[in-house]
This record gives sequence, structure tokens and C-alpha cells, in this order.
Amino acid sequence: MGENTMNIDELTDTAKTLVAGGKGLLAMDESNPTCNKRFAALEIPQTPEYRRAWRELIITTPQLGSCISGAILYDETIRDRLRDGTPFVKAITDAGIIPGIKVDAGTRELAGHPGERITEGLDNLRDRLVKYAQMGARFAKWRAVIIMGEQLPSAGCLEANAHALARYAALCQEAGLVPVVEPEVLMEGAHTLEQCGVVTERVLRRVFDQLCMQRVALEGMILKPNMVLPGLACPQQEVAEEVADATVRCLLRVVPAAVPGIAFLSGGQPEELASARLNAMNVRFKGRLPWEVTFSFSRAIQQSALDLWQGQATNVVVAQQVLLHRARCNRTAHLGEYRTEGGLEVPMAEDGDRVV
Ligand code: 13P
Repeated sequence: MGENTMNIDELTDTAKTLVAGGKGLLAMDESNPTCNKRFAALEIPQTPEYRRAWRELIITTPQLGSCISGAILYDETIRDRLRDGTPFVKAITDAGIIPGIKVDAGTRELAGHPGERITEGLDNLRDRLVKYAQMGARFAKWRAVIIMGEQLPSAGCLEANAHALARYAALCQEAGLVPVVEPEVLMEGAHTLEQCGVVTERVLRRVFDQLCMQRVALEGMILKPNMVLPGLACPQQEVAEEVADATVRCLLRVVPAAVPGIAFLSGGQPEELASARLNAMNVRFKGRLPWEVTFSFSRAIQQSALDLWQGQATNVVVAQQVLLHRARCNRTAHLGEYRTEGGLEVPMAEDGDRVV
């Protein structure tokens, strides 16, 4: 009992640190196929060397640690080194950022459920988690994908994915890693904001039921959900304040107050919109949120920087400036201080001053 309690205290400390001080998570755990797909769209060569150069650009961005508390890595990256031979994990830790690791093995079609996905990766997970912890990871991520459609999602799909998330989370805590639990309701489809809210609430209910059943300590985890949004093909697109209200109302119903933080995925939202929506939640519910409400973005932090980089060494500095700008905007949004002036975003520096 004593040992177990200590372990939970450590998990709780890590989870709280990950969502403290306005900071948030940077997801840079794209699998090689996903990273290659993003490179291909910009005609960047899809090689290990270019993937390493891109990830090195990200983590060597000056002052990144002032906005980013933790970086989620992919298996290839946690074992990799910077060009000068420094292990990635050391470079990240020296920047004041906690290393994390994606441990799911991606999604496949769920048998008997046409059009739905199940996340794989539970086989041998216990052994893999021990190795990742030895390599320096302090938290982990597992993403489940929920697709909305005419008759979707099915109860079977929700149950299977929630169960897998809970099995993963329990194994993480056993290994001393904070689980980032990511059930993502996709934006693809013509569904309304309201329909997304209904489905997201159902999903999260199943997830927390299963987390409790698998005895996951809620104090030592982070939830990484989607925002409640109208589908991409829905003609009615609500403003940031309406998205904020629908999202927080949904989360207040289903996410226990014991969870230290909620860190949203961006899911393909435009960068500025993702910041504005996160900010609206922190402004409109100021003083009424039982958990920290922050970000765990990949595309909404990386995309503009990647567009600028184009695989060219000469573009590294300007790409890093854009990456830091996005990280700062999102930290400012976590603090509920994000605003635009004359169409331009005005983030806050780490000392609280506006960056102009
Ligand atoms: P996006 O912010 O691009 O949705 O990525 C977050 C993530 O980690 C997906 O698993």
C-alpha cells in the first residue's frame, strides 16, 4: 500500500506539472507514415534523415520550454540523436520539457463494424512501457478514433476502444508513466455541433466507466479529448464562444474533478481558430473549471512552421520563430489572455509581457 501510494503521488506530480503555468503539450509523435504524408504534401524527401532534421528543428527551438511542458515522441525519435550526437531525450530534458511517448500501434478496422476503427498495441505493452520508462519517458499517449456517421458510432466500437484505453492507462500507471488518454471524435462529416456534443459525452462516459473499472488513478492521468465541433461538412459553423460553451458543458458532465488536466487535440482545426477556441473556454469559465484546460496540439503548433521549413537548412530559424509563436499563442490561450489586434495575434511572453 505504502509503495503504491508513493507511486500515485509521483504520477500526480507529473500530471500536474504537465498542465501547470499556462503550458501545454506538444504532440510530435507522428508515426513515420503520417510524417511522410505531411512531408509528401510539401515535396520534402520522406527519409529518416529529413524526419530527424524536422524533429531536431522542433526541439531545439529557443525558449520552447517556456510554453511547452511535455513533448510526445514517436518510437523512432526517443531512440534518436541530434546531429551533434546529443540524445533527443537529453536535449528535451535540458530544455525543461518532459519527454513522453506514443505507445499505441495505430488503428485498424474493427471486426464486424464496417467503417469503424479499433486501436491496437496492447500486446507486450507492459514490457514496452518498462523500456520507455528506462529511456526517460515520464508519460505516454494512446489515441482511439471515433467516426461519426449515419448509424455511427456503434456501442460495440465505443466499448472496445474505451476498454483498450483503460487497459493501456492501468499499465502505464503500473510502469510509473502518466497516461494521456485520447479518445478522438473526428471532425469529418456533416454532423452538427450538438450531435458532436452528444457523441463526445457518450464516448467520455464509456471511457471513464472503463478507467474506473480498471482501477486507474484519475489524479495521475490527463484526458486528451476533441473539442465539441460541427463536422467539417456541416453548413452551420459556430463561433469560438459557442464551441467553448458546448465543449466545457459536455466535459463538466463527464470528467471527474480528480483529473488534473484536459489537454485538447487540434484535429486539423486551423491554427488560430484552435487558439481562439481554447482561449474562449478559459475566459468564459474562469474560476469555474475543476481541471486545467490546455492544449496537446500537433498540427495546430507545427503546420505553419513545416510549410516554411520545406526541408531547407536555411529556413530553420524562421520556422522555429513561427513554431515558438504558435506555442506562445496557445500558452496565452490556456491563460485566457489570447487576443488579436488588427487581425494579428498578440501572444504573451513567458514573463507576462506582450510580444509584439
Ligand atoms: P493534432 O493536434 O494534429 O490533432 O494531433 C494531436 C495528436 O496527438 C493526435 O494523436
